[in-house]
Amino acid sequence: MFLSRVFTLYPDYFPGYLDKGLFGKSKGKEWNLEIINIRDYALDKHKTVDDTPYGGGNGMIMKADVLASSLDANVKSGEKTIYLSPRGKVFNSKLAREFSNENSINLICGHFEGVDERILESRNIEEISIGDFILSGGEVAAFVVIDSILRFIPGILGNLNSSRDESFENGLLEYPQFTKPQIWEEKKVPNVLISGDHAKIKDWRLSQSEAITRDRRPDLWQKYKKN
Ligand SMILES: C[S@@+](CC[C@H](N)C(=O)[O-])C[C@H]1O[C@@H](n2cnc3c(N)ncnc32)[C@H](O)[C@@H]1O
Repeated sequence: MFLSRVFTLYPDYFPGYLDKGLFGKSKGKEWNLEIINIRDYALDKHKTVDDTPYGGGNGMIMKADVLASSLDANVKSGEKTIYLSPRGKVFNSKLAREFSNENSINLICGHFEGVDERILESRNIEEISIGDFILSGGEVAAFVVIDSILRFIPGILGNLNSSRDESFENGLLEYPQFTKPQIWEEKKVPNVLISGDHAKIKDWRLSQSEAITRDRRPDLWQKYKKN
């Protein structure tokens, strides 16, 4: 069973929507979630988890000693540990698939101005960003990472093919999709999709995926063309 363990100052945010739908149904079977309240590992009676930055500057920094205590009490040897951070390697579908091959993953949610740098090296922590913007805390990023990993864990999605057909899986964005009714506000579903000709449908979908990727994501298109 895949385990995601989240280290947070806001344990109440979890499990949130991870307890609903297919994720909720498979929780406790195909995967599990453990929430660690970092504040429980504070060393003083005021439960202090942060302090001012050396060298001055705005905001507060999460203390290395408190984080270390929370990690050391919960992380098992050999497990991957990730600090969600705007400085990290940018998360994508390839990383989600890679992480889904782990037995467990530890996600540290930062707050304030981030964490004392020394914890990252001392506990061999990888930094992962969910994009070039700043969030107020790592919890939303943890949800993003867990959600996209779970889609690759066998048995969680009803139809495994649905994760294989999705945008990014073959280096392309997804083709347009339609459902009933066939005509809506005078717009008709493309004829090919109701032709019953599966080879033609496959070709049409590929050409649409290619056109959309070329227009919207020249970076992906260049990579796709090279392969
Ligand atoms: C206000 S941010 C700290 C930003 C930090 N001072 C900087 O400039 O890089 C607080 C926390 O939110 C999380 N966070 C913010 N943006 C993120 C992103 N793009 N990806 C992942 N986590 C993010 C991190 O855990 C971070 O410690």
